[in-house]
Amino acid sequence: MENIKSYVQQHKDRFINELIELLKIPSVSADTAYSQDVIDTAEAVKVSLEKAGCDFVEICDTPGYPIVYGEKIIDKSLPTVLVYGHYDVQPPDPLELWTSPPFEPVIKKTEIHPEGAIFARGSCDDKGQMYMHVKALEYMVQSNTLPCNVKFMIEGEEEVGSKSLSWFVERNQEKLKNDVILISDTGMISNQQPSITTGLRGLSYVEVEVTGPNRDLHSGLYGGAVANPINILAKMIASLHDDDNHITIPGFYDKVQELSLEERAEMAKAPFNLDDYKKALDLKDVYGEKGYVTNERNSIRPTLDVNGIWGGYTGEGAKTVIASKAFAKISMRLVPNQDWEEITELFTKHFISIAPAGVTVKVKPHHGGQGYVTPIDSIGYKAANMAYTETFGIPAIPVRSGGSIPIVALFEKELKSKTILMGFGLDSDAIHSPNEHFGIFNYLKGIETIPLFYKYFVELSK
Ligand code: BES
Ligand code: MN
Ligand code: MN
Repeated sequence: MENIKSYVQQHKDRFINELIELLKIPSVSADTAYSQDVIDTAEAVKVSLEKAGCDFVEICDTPGYPIVYGEKIIDKSLPTVLVYGHYDVQPPDPLELWTSPPFEPVIKKTEIHPEGAIFARGSCDDKGQMYMHVKALEYMVQSNTLPCNVKFMIEGEEEVGSKSLSWFVERNQEKLKNDVILISDTGMISNQQPSITTGLRGLSYVEVEVTGPNRDLHSGLYGGAVANPINILAKMIASLHDDDNHITIPGFYDKVQELSLEERAEMAKAPFNLDDYKKALDLKDVYGEKGYVTNERNSIRPTLDVNGIWGGYTGEGAKTVIASKAFAKISMRLVPNQDWEEITELFTKHFISIAPAGVTVKVKPHHGGQGYVTPIDSIGYKAANMAYTETFGIPAIPVRSGGSIPIVALFEKELKSKTILMGFGLDSDAIHSPNEHFGIFNYLKGIETIPLFYKYFVELSK
């Protein structure tokens, strides 16, 4: 497909400008202050799918934010690719750490992206990566090379747990019927070394509340005589890991799928430089579970992390006080075979059991999802690898990622099809962080590579 290269070259400025327009709408799903923007973004995605050449596009209402569904069915006897992506984004805070405003996209050069990168919330996760598929469709329609049927399902609640999407998938199995699901919402090793994500971690997200006295107290009059909920919460959280950084919740590891030494040796072949890793994060050393290396700790091993902790006085100056309550948000990343609802229960039981009598503890589950692993001998994987090999000049390496897209396991359960994770972001693109960006190289390379996936998938399906 020499043509796709020239098509991208010819239209790249427009491709970039269209993405920039989409990035200007602050579709933050977590914060209801932005709800109209989220809805407006769904409309913008709908229009873009119509323009790209879908025959039918609709905005599907759900109990939450709408799902944009589009399709182009050319021949019912041909395979169908279902593209999934999300148009919602993470909250942009802390705003003061952005070098340019999160919803005023600008192109800046970086060491890793000498050709420039678009800086904006959602540029990489996931508007930029989702929009590559819209532009790839445009090319295939314009050049008359779309080799099969395609369906799009773009949601607006991924960053808050995809509740409405589960609801939608369960009710629309016939409509969503497909032969393979294609997602670009992950990353790759580097711009010189493509990789295909073969695993995602599951997730259990909870919030805990520790209550001591029924009101805030003078820390001199009462200090030492009553349990301080913040002290207790810190102690309880600290006890969730032992000295080897294993998680201490009874039963937590029971179902963890251990990898064989051969599998771990295979993983170790992926290029990784610990010094560069530390340097990129300004760290003197890494930290984690004993017996595992960094690339294992962040992918094939489960974890427990506090995401936020608060209580008491945090304003200017000092206030001598024992707070009545302390809170924390805790996430556990899970690996295949760990069931997120079971883990949530184990956590809850354990956390309540370790609380001293001087406090009461509440655990509120937020959301979660199962992990995912996919084989590398499927037609979909092979087609993706052929596509990368052609556009990057070298084959892709299979990599298990530490991130989560909980809906992927649900797709397999409800729609009975495999998902291929063709991600084009880099770890350094700062998704969920201030100064999120997406390389122009990555964006255009994605648009170039996707039509080849279609081509090889259809060829291999024959
Ligand atoms: N796109 C990410 C997930 C991701 C990023 C996976 C990079 C692999 C590599 C997705 O939008 C995300 O942020 N997922 C959440 C989970 C969700 C339930 C909030 C996550 O992983 O924290
Ligand atoms: Mn995402
Ligand atoms: Mn995300």
